[in-house]
Amino acid sequence: MGTVSRRQVLIGGGALLGSGLVPGLSLVSNAFGEEIARPDYMIRAGFNENPWGPSRVALQAIVDSIKMSNLYGGNRRALTDLMGNIHNVPTDHISIGTGSGEILRTAGMLVAMDKGSVVCADPTYHDLIRYAERAGSEIIRVPVNPDTLNVDLNAMHKAIRKDTKCVYIANPNNPVPSIIEKNALREFTLDVAKDRMVFIDEAYFEFVDNPDYESMMDLVRDGHKNIVVARTASKIHGLAGLRIGFGFADPELTQRINDAKTGAINVLGLNAAYASYKDQDFQDFTIRKNKESLAIVESMLDELGHRYVKSNANFSFIYTGRDVEEVGQAFRAENLMIGRPFPPMNDWIRVSMAKPHEMEYFAQVYKKILG
Ligand SMILES: Cc1ncc(COP(=O)(O)O)c(C=O)c1O
Repeated sequence: MGTVSRRQVLIGGGALLGSGLVPGLSLVSNAFGEEIARPDYMIRAGFNENPWGPSRVALQAIVDSIKMSNLYGGNRRALTDLMGNIHNVPTDHISIGTGSGEILRTAGMLVAMDKGSVVCADPTYHDLIRYAERAGSEIIRVPVNPDTLNVDLNAMHKAIRKDTKCVYIANPNNPVPSIIEKNALREFTLDVAKDRMVFIDEAYFEFVDNPDYESMMDLVRDGHKNIVVARTASKIHGLAGLRIGFGFADPELTQRINDAKTGAINVLGLNAAYASYKDQDFQDFTIRKNKESLAIVESMLDELGHRYVKSNANFSFIYTGRDVEEVGQAFRAENLMIGRPFPPMNDWIRVSMAKPHEMEYFAQVYKKILG
C-alpha cells in the first residue's frame, strides 16, 4: 500500500472493476442497455454508510494500530488537537465520543437529569430523543412542513416551553435530507440558546453543497454557551464501525458531557480517525462518488415524475405511496437493503447511496417495483 498513491488507487479501483476481477462486476450495465444482473450480495442502502471507506490511509493506520490493542485508550490528545486545528476551536471545547451518537445520548441524559423536555422536528434522527425519553424527558415533536418536509423553525420556536431544556436539530436532517436556511437557523439558535441547550447535529455536514447552508460551529468558536455542534467520523470518513464522533461546545458544557459519558473509545478508531481527517483526497472522492450516485437516483425519479426530497446528504427520501415494510421486502428480495420505516411517514422510503453501479441496479429494481 505504501508505494501506491491515492490517485493510482482510485483509478486502479475503477480499472479492476472493468476487468471483471471484483465481485459485483455483473452489476455494470453494458453498452447495449441489457438488464443488469442481480448481484450475488446484499447491497447496503439502508444505513447511510460510506460504501468506499475506510480510506487507504485510515486502513493503514488501523493495521499499524492493531499491535496497540492491549492499551485501554490511545493518543486522544493528538486527535483532539487535530480537530481543534481543523475547526479552529480550543481543545477544551471538544469531546470525543464512541460515535457522535454517544454525545447525542449523553446530552439526552443530561436533559433528563435536569427534568427538562426536548423539542425536536418530526421526523428526525432518534439517538438524543429516544435516550432522553427513556430517561424520563417529555419529547415535544414538531412536524416538518407537510409540503416541503423542511424543519419548521417557527413552529419549533412556538413549541418551546418553560421546562424545555434542549432543542435538537439535525442539519441536514435525517431521514429527510433537507437543510435549514443558514440565517434563519443562526437567528433561531442564538435566541433559543439564551435559556437552554441547542444541539445542532451536523453528521452529514461534509456532503452539503448548498449556498443556503452553514455550519453553526462558529457560534461555539465565538464563545456562546448552551450550543453543541456534533460531527462524526462515521459518514464521510467511512469509520462507522470504529465509533468515533465529536461534540463541540463551551468548556463548561463540554466538561459536563465528558463527565457523564459512559463509552470508551479505542486505539483503532482514534488512529484511523486521525489519519482520515488528514486525508482530504478521500473525502473529496467520497463526495464526488456520492454525487454520481445521487444523480442516478434523482434523475431516474425525475424521469418517472416521482416525488422526493432533493438530497443534501448521502441518502434519498422518496414518496412511494406504498407501505414501507412491503416495499422494503420487495427490494430485499432483489438483494437491496433500504432504510427502515420512519413512522408516521410509512409511505416513504429512505435509500442510502451505495456505489454508482449499485445505484444503477437500484434504479432498475425501483422501476420494476414502483415505476
Ligand atoms: C443525523 C445523525 N446524527 C448522528 C448519527 C450517529 O452517527 P454516529 O454515532 O455513527 O456518529 C447519525 C447516524 O446515522 C445520524 O444520521
